[in-house]
Formats: sequence, structure tokens, C-alpha cells
Amino acid sequence: MSQHPEGKVIRDMPGITAGDSRSKSNLTRHLQAWLREKLATALSASNLEDLKSSVQAIRSQLEASQVSAEKIDIYRNDFAYPTIAIESVLSDLEQILAVRTMERAKYYMLRLQKSTVEVKTNGINDINLNRWKDYGDIYTDSLWLFPKRDRSGAHNAWYWGNFAPQIPHQLMLRYTRKGDWVIDMFAGSGTTLIEAMNLDRNSVGVELNPDIAIRTKNLIDSLGNASFRPRLIIDDSTSVNTSDLLRISGGQKYRLAILHPPYHDIIKFSEDARDLSLSADVQMFVRRLESVVSNTLKVLDAGGHIALVIGDKYQNGEIVPLGFMCMNMMLGKPLALKSIVVKNYDSTRGKRGSQDLWKYRALAGGFYLFKHEYVFIFRHRV
Ligand SMILES: C[S@@+](CC[C@H](N)C(=O)[O-])C[C@H]1O[C@@H](n2cnc3c(N)ncnc32)[C@H](O)[C@@H]1O
Repeated sequence: MSQHPEGKVIRDMPGITAGDSRSKSNLTRHLQAWLREKLATALSASNLEDLKSSVQAIRSQLEASQVSAEKIDIYRNDFAYPTIAIESVLSDLEQILAVRTMERAKYYMLRLQKSTVEVKTNGINDINLNRWKDYGDIYTDSLWLFPKRDRSGAHNAWYWGNFAPQIPHQLMLRYTRKGDWVIDMFAGSGTTLIEAMNLDRNSVGVELNPDIAIRTKNLIDSLGNASFRPRLIIDDSTSVNTSDLLRISGGQKYRLAILHPPYHDIIKFSEDARDLSLSADVQMFVRRLESVVSNTLKVLDAGGHIALVIGDKYQNGEIVPLGFMCMNMMLGKPLALKSIVVKNYDSTRGKRGSQDLWKYRALAGGFYLFKHEYVFIFRHRV
């Protein structure tokens, strides 16, 4: 048994030795080669019994190795080799061990073997579709229930009105590749930018409030990963110079835009009249957001994606369906609606203290308390 420098215990993994300092990608490469060789041997078996005992041996060795998906980084790959996650390989091996015919066993074996040598992507992200089972942590359902907000690393949630880092995290994994350009037109505390850095994506943020922007910039500058350091522009997204945005990306169009505007006047973010949260009414808010969307489309690649994160609001005892109003506005643009995601909504710190009062108000007023918001995902029509 040996201790890998990253802290994980590795046992009996052929070729991985004590104090192994190889990078994750080299370990992945090594594991692929080992697995390919073992699978080829198992496939040469002449009967089901021999094949299963070879598969059983591979399974035991993998289990004993304690190399996990956590170690084998499935996102930051360069695609010189396919990705791999041990848990899903183990489940593929289980499937083979459960079959009753040689024909079926060979079918599953060949499929597993192919997935260890061949990469298939949709061209939009780095997900290897041949190993789709590896991506258990990537959401494909339209209901996002985050048990709790990710507060790891630089995500310390200091900003009132920020969003959960899991939102940009999920969006970037689905709609960008490593090195792609991402833009956030309402950057706030830089949640998108920090997450872009974590995932090796280039990013630019636009934020109106200089106090917030400077604090965010200082935070970003204090972090590592200099190759993917985000850029922050202090400006009004309704009138930002889009040529500047393209200049920063070296002329490359953005593959993903994330828009998390104020939910009209629910939180007033500043005293600046250009702040969307100070829009005189909902119609004006939607019109101003429309200008932001138009600017975004000027820098968004054809086939790129734009995600709007927004919730509804109550006014005079009635719901104002802000989310759907903005969605309708965006449907008038060259955008195809790909998904309407509903995500759970943390009650704000203020409301949490007065939950009983809100329950009373809901019962008395005949309404339901908001527990959700939306992520509308659109594709820029080619
Ligand atoms: C809901 S917050 C975004 C929070 C961000 N997602 C985060 O995690 O910190 C909306 C942000 O939009 C900014 N904002 C409002 N009007 C703006 C405008 N016209 N141009 C650029 N930013 C604006 C506000 O200052 C605020 O920081």
C-alpha cells in the first residue's frame, strides 16, 4: 500500500508505486493502458466461464486500487486519450458478470473496450459520450436541487444577491470546452469568473457597481491559475462597447454567456440610475435587459449558448412572472430555447429569521412562498 502525494491511498495498482508523483492525466493514461490490456486478454477467452473469471480479476484489482473518479480528473483532459471514472467501469464490469451468454458478454466487453480508446463528443463540450456514465455529477434533469451552496475555495458568498457556484459550474461543463470564452454580463462577486478559472475556461465579466467590481477584481487577482485569469470591466451592460469585449478575447466569440440580472427591484444593488434594479417598472426592466441580450448576441458565437438566471416577484399581492416575461422577450431574438430549468431557492438570510411570519403571510394572503427560480438556456441560432 502506498500514499499518493495527493493524499489518496493506492494499493496494488499495477505500475503505480509509492510516492508516485505523476499528474492526474498521466495516471489516467496509465490506467487506460492497463485496462485495455486486461480487457483484450479477457476478450480472448474461449468460453463464458474463463471470460468472467478474467473480468472478476480486473474488478478485484480495480476495487483494491482505491483509485477513484476524484483522482482521475475527467474534465481537464486534452483528449489525447479518453476519460475514465473507476466507479462506472466497475458498474460496466458488474453488467458483464451478470450476463448468461458469451455473445452478450462479448457485446458489453467490446463496448467497454471501445469506450477506453475512442472519444465521442457533441463538439460543444468536453464530455466523452462513449463514457457518458462517468459524468454522474453533471445534471441532465430540469429540476436542480442543490442541497447546499458550494462555499469551497474562493466561493465565500460575501455578496448579497450572488448565485450558487453550482449554476455556472453545471452550465460550463455542458456548454463549453476547456479554453473556451465565457462572459457574465452581471458579474457581481464574480462567481462565474471564479468557477471559469477553476474549470480552465477564459472569462470576462461586466459589472456596473465599481465598489463591488474592485472587490471582486482583488479577489480574483489573489487566486492561482494565471493562465485563465478572468477580466472584469466596470461598465453598464446595456451600453458596453462590444468591440472591447471581443478585443479582450483576441477576436474570439464567446461560447457561453451567463446573465444573472437583478430580479427587478427585489434587491436594490446601487444608487446608479443605470442599475437594472432601479428600473421604474417591470416593462422598463425587460426593455433594458433586452439591450443587454442584444449586446450579448453581438459577441456570442453562432451555436453558442446564453443562460438567463432569474426569479419571479410579487407586487401588490399578485405574481409578476418576471422569468417568463424575460423568456418571451428572448424568444423574439435569434435564440432557440433549449431548456427551462427550475432550481431550488435558498431563503435569504433576512427571510430565514422571519420564516414563521412569512408562513403566516402566505396562509393569510392565499399565496405560496417562492422556493424556486429559473435557468433559461438558449442556443444562438446559426
Ligand atoms: C443578481 S446580481 C449578480 C450576482 C452574481 N451572479 C454573483 O454571483 O455575484 C446582479 C448584478 O448586476 C449588477 N448590475 C445591475 N445593473 C447593471 C448594469 N446595467 N450593467 C452591469 N451590471 C449591472 C448589479 O450591481 C449586481 O451586482
